[in-house]
Amino acid sequence: MKLIIATNRAPYDVKKPKDEVIVEKAPGGLVAALDPVMRENGGVWVCGGEKLLEDYGIELPYPVKQVKLTKNENKHYYEGFCNTQIWPLFHYFPAKYKLHTKDWNFYRQVNQKFANQILEIIEPDDRIWIHDYQLMLLPKLLREKGVNNKIGFFLHIPFPNVEVYRIFPKRIEILESLVTCDLVGFHTASYKKHFLECVEYFLGKDVDIGRVEDLSISIDYNNIVKTAKSHKVNLILKDLKYNFSDQIIGLGVDRLDYTKGVPEKFEGLEHFLDNNPEYIKKLSFIQIAVPTRSSVSEYQKIKRITDELVGRINGKFSREGWSPIQYIYHNLKFEELIAYYRLADFIVVSALRDGLNLVAKEYIASRINNTGQLILSEFTGAAEVLPHRLLINPYDVRSISNSISKVLKTPKETQVKDMTELRNYVQENDIFKWLDTFLEMLG
Ligand code: G6P
Repeated sequence: MKLIIATNRAPYDVKKPKDEVIVEKAPGGLVAALDPVMRENGGVWVCGGEKLLEDYGIELPYPVKQVKLTKNENKHYYEGFCNTQIWPLFHYFPAKYKLHTKDWNFYRQVNQKFANQILEIIEPDDRIWIHDYQLMLLPKLLREKGVNNKIGFFLHIPFPNVEVYRIFPKRIEILESLVTCDLVGFHTASYKKHFLECVEYFLGKDVDIGRVEDLSISIDYNNIVKTAKSHKVNLILKDLKYNFSDQIIGLGVDRLDYTKGVPEKFEGLEHFLDNNPEYIKKLSFIQIAVPTRSSVSEYQKIKRITDELVGRINGKFSREGWSPIQYIYHNLKFEELIAYYRLADFIVVSALRDGLNLVAKEYIASRINNTGQLILSEFTGAAEVLPHRLLINPYDVRSISNSISKVLKTPKETQVKDMTELRNYVQENDIFKWLDTFLEMLG
């Protein structure tokens, strides 16, 4: 009995600097958690890709079956249906939703390719675990081919309420597929509620539906703690402390996505500095913006808006040798990221909508001395599941600005008390607990 995992992205990345071929585990909690399970139990990972891992002739620790996507499929399935239709709508951005009828056929076609790949390898007692919005049709396509194995599905993004979901023309097809699963998981009780309301609204009260649960994903807490304590991170931190000596440090870490509220965060910071000029030259805000989906026009637009805003705000407040925003637009190595988490006196997560937000949990895990503060948007799944937090409404600059004032005045004992509570929660509810619980529920 093996576990078949299906995700859009491969669990391994290949990098080719010069003549070398370097294989790295893909970042993120999902791969970190599932990798050991797949190694031990001999599962198969089914994923997509324009370039295939096997073309590099690399040995992987378990079978990875890749569905090869054409350029056109990538354009209409990934850029189109996934990231110009589902993504904006499920994150409550109907104004960014663009319907191209062609996209749906490609979404179906790619999901069908995944189904065909699974049909080639499936055996009677295997369990299938499908992930995220890129593969929502896959359950039904498998059922149509007579697959009656256990199928689990986990959605990593929000599930919107009926009023927003109904904008989506393929609303029925997607629900009809998801209800064929034995288990459907969401990050929060709200998403689960929305899903069940949509099922009732569009498919009726009597529809046959499997188990539906809320179970928020997490991080590899112990690994982050271990990394945060490592010699390598201590060395990077020492350099950072030297560069930012005597500064209060605020931090932001986001994929540069319009859902993440990065411009709103900068406007909040601007409002704070306008009203608290005594912090000029005293507070540095470091924003790590990870490039993402740069072939999609909305992502090119958010990049332009963010670049301009950083320029404008830095122009307004900079003094000799000091600028308020340090803007890093590239991916960091894991150890560097953890060093920044350790450096920051506070972090601002200002997402306008976010399925969960793992950055919040990573920051908490990295705070090995129990200090530091988390300013968290109320529109993240994390705000619904974490026990204590400083909530903001990122649409309101004053809310962000006031929260910065508040963290700067919080006594150390209160910080330690709050951070300890958060750390205990994340330690207890780590990625392995999420994984074990889901697979146990799937049966
Ligand atoms: C979100 C989604 C994932 C996706 C990731 C990165 O977290 O839930 O499914 O893999 O963003 O986006 P990308 O488009 O680069 O895969």
